Amino acid sequence: MFGGLTALHFLRDTVTVRPGDTVLVNGASGAIGTNAVQLAKNAGATVTAVTSTANLDLARRLRADRVVDYTVTPPLTLTDRFDIVLDAVGNISPRRGVTLLSERGTLLLAVADLSETLSLRRRVKSGSGAERAVDVEHLVELLATGRLESVIDSTYPLAQAVRAHERVDSGRKVGNVILNPGD
Ligand SMILES: NC(=O)c1ccc[n+]([C@@H]2O[C@H](COP(=O)([O-])OP(=O)(O)OC[C@H]3O[C@@H](n4cnc5c(N)ncnc54)[C@H](OP(=O)(O)O)[C@@H]3O)[C@@H](O)[C@H]2O)c1
Repeated sequence: MFGGLTALHFLRDTVTVRPGDTVLVNGASGAIGTNAVQLAKNAGATVTAVTSTANLDLARRLRADRVVDYTVTPPLTLTDRFDIVLDAVGNISPRRGVTLLSERGTLLLAVADLSETLSLRRRVKSGSGAERAVDVEHLVELLATGRLESVIDSTYPLAQAVRAHERVDSGRKVGNVILNPGD
């Protein structure tokens, strides 16, 4: 659920995606990215999703208008300019990321170190969202009505919490890892 809450925090509360906006999601196959692509599409944006080759089809299934394979085309080499760039990987620096922005664009950093956080500029924003029940209810409503798909990488029983964390820490999970306390 944190991926959806974080995507909401950035795309609804930090900026508000509007119909016709162009949005680039870097790391579109992660927990934040899979939610961000769909929430931006729901808001009427044109979405470009950056993934590895293996995850391009997933991004298409999540309704991305355009997919970019970072092993072929690193996002910083794109000549397009975007109204919103959401980096959910942590490999787009504020200095280089702003070059991807349109005149009114905003760079959103889901991953930012202390020096980046302290040096944030007007067009670059970071932070983390609150975990509010009303937002969880909103996401559940989107899931229940088919406007949001939850992408599940793997499910582990509580006894295998260490393995679940290892999978998360791999940086390769696709969507969400579930830890099931009932198992
Ligand atoms: N600011 C906040 O509030 C907040 C909240 C939660 C998490 N975070 C942070 O946000 C980051 C993202 O978390 P997450 O759970 O969504 O995903 P994640 O586990 O960090 O990302 C996994 C995905 O990233 C893709 N990926 C890896 N390298 C990439 C690259 N160079 N370009 C594009 N995609 C790449 C992987 O696909 P491939 O294997 O195909 O490359 C994999 O599907 C984490 O660092 C997390 O700590 C921030």
